[in-house]
Amino acid sequence: MKHYKGEVSTLPPDKSISHRAALIGAIAEGTTEIWNFSAGFDNQSTLGVLQDCGISILQEEITAENGTVVRKVVIDSNGLWNLTKPEKQLMCNNSGSTMRMFSGILAAQPFESVLVGDSSLMKRPMRRLADPLRMMGAEVELSPGDTAPVVIRGTRSLHPVSYELPVPSAQVKSLVAFAALHAGGESHIIESLPSRNHTELMLGLKVENLPGGKRSVVVPGRMTVPAKPFHIPGDPSAACFIIALGLLSAGSEILLREVCLNPTRTGYLDILQKAGAEIRLENIRQTGGEKIGDIQVSYSQSMNPVRISDSAVVANVIDEIPMLAVLSACATGEFELHNAAELRAKESDRISAVVNNLERLGFACEEFADGFAVVGKVAAAKGRIPVESYDDHRIAMSFAIADRVLDADLEISDAEIIGVSFPKFHDIIESLEQ
Ligand code: S3P
Repeated sequence: MKHYKGEVSTLPPDKSISHRAALIGAIAEGTTEIWNFSAGFDNQSTLGVLQDCGISILQEEITAENGTVVRKVVIDSNGLWNLTKPEKQLMCNNSGSTMRMFSGILAAQPFESVLVGDSSLMKRPMRRLADPLRMMGAEVELSPGDTAPVVIRGTRSLHPVSYELPVPSAQVKSLVAFAALHAGGESHIIESLPSRNHTELMLGLKVENLPGGKRSVVVPGRMTVPAKPFHIPGDPSAACFIIALGLLSAGSEILLREVCLNPTRTGYLDILQKAGAEIRLENIRQTGGEKIGDIQVSYSQSMNPVRISDSAVVANVIDEIPMLAVLSACATGEFELHNAAELRAKESDRISAVVNNLERLGFACEEFADGFAVVGKVAAAKGRIPVESYDDHRIAMSFAIADRVLDADLEISDAEIIGVSFPKFHDIIESLEQ
C-alpha cells in the first residue's frame, strides 16, 4: 500500500482570497500587485471578465531562487468607476464566486452587462444576488428558474441598504459589500451565522456585534479603495484533500506550508482533531490581516466517525463536507450530516453526488433533504468502478483520494474539472508518493 511523505510548499493559492484581490484591484485607486495568484480556472475566469470590462491586467510567472514558481498579477485601475461596457457576454465558466461577487460591482456601473456560465453554473440559484441589488436600485433580470443568464442594468446612484442575509453566504455578503462601496451612504450587511470574512479584512471594513450573536458589516458609501499589495496564502479547502490522504494512508507524514488558517475556514481541522486525527498547527503567524501557518499531518489509525449538525459548523466547513464525508466513510464506515441543504446548490448537488458515488463503492447511505448518513460498508469495491465528478472539482478530488486510500480502481468522469481550484493536484500527490 502506498504512503505519502514530504513537504508541500506549493498548495494552490487560496481561491476565495484570489477572487477578492482581483475584484478589489479593479476598483482600487492605482496599481494593485497580487503575489501568488491562483492559476485555477475559477480565478482565471474572474480575471477574464474584468478584462472584458476594460480593466488592464498583467499576469506573469516568476521563478524564485529555490525554483518555485509564483504567479504575479498586476491590475491598474482608477477607482470605483473604471470599468467599460463589455462587448460580449461575460463568461464566468464554472465559477459561482465570479458571477455573484462581480455582479455587485456591475450593479454600480452605468451600462448593461450579461453574465453566463457553463452548464453547472447556469443551473445554480441567482435570486440571492438579484434581491439585494434590486433593493439598491439596480435592474436585474434572471431566467424564469431564477438562474443565469444574469442581466444587470446598473446605475451610478445605488442606494445604501441594511440587508440581512437570508442564507449564510460569503459570496452574497461580498457582492452586497462591493455594491455598497459605490452607494450614496452607509450600508449594513447583517449575518446571523459567520461566513468567511476575507472581504471585510481585505477592505478594512468595520464589523459590529449585534444582540443575538449577529454581526453587521458596515460599508461606507463612495468609499475610496487605495491600491495595496496582496500576498495570497495556500488554500485550506485544497489542503483538506492532501490532509485526508495523509490521515488515511499508513506510514504517511506530510507538512503543508503557508496555509490560510482564518478561523472562518478551519472548522474542518477542529472536526478532524476531535475525531482523533493527528494534525498539528505550527509556525502560526499573521500576514496581510490573515492568520497563516503550517499543517503537520500524520497517519491516524483510530479515528471516530464524523457527525455534523450545527448550522454554524456547516457554514464554516461548507466546501470541505464532501472530503470529510468520504474520509469518515473510508476510515470508519460511518458519517452523518444534517442542516446542510445549501450543499445541493453548489457546483453540483453535493448531497446526492457523494451518496451516489459512495454507494457505487459499496457503502450503505441514507439521503435526507438536508444531509445524509453513511451507515456502513456492505460490499467490497471490486474491479473498475465508474464514479461521476458531476462537473464538480471537489467531488472529483474527494473520490480521487478515495481511489488511493481504498486501493480501488475508480474511473472518475471528467476529472479535468479538478483544474477549477487545484491544477497541480496529481503532481503534488505524486511528489509525496512513496
Ligand atoms: C465562497 C463562499 C462559499 C463557498 C465558495 C466560495 C467565497 O459559497 O462555497 O466555494 O469565496 O465567498 P457561498 O457564499 O455560496 O456559501
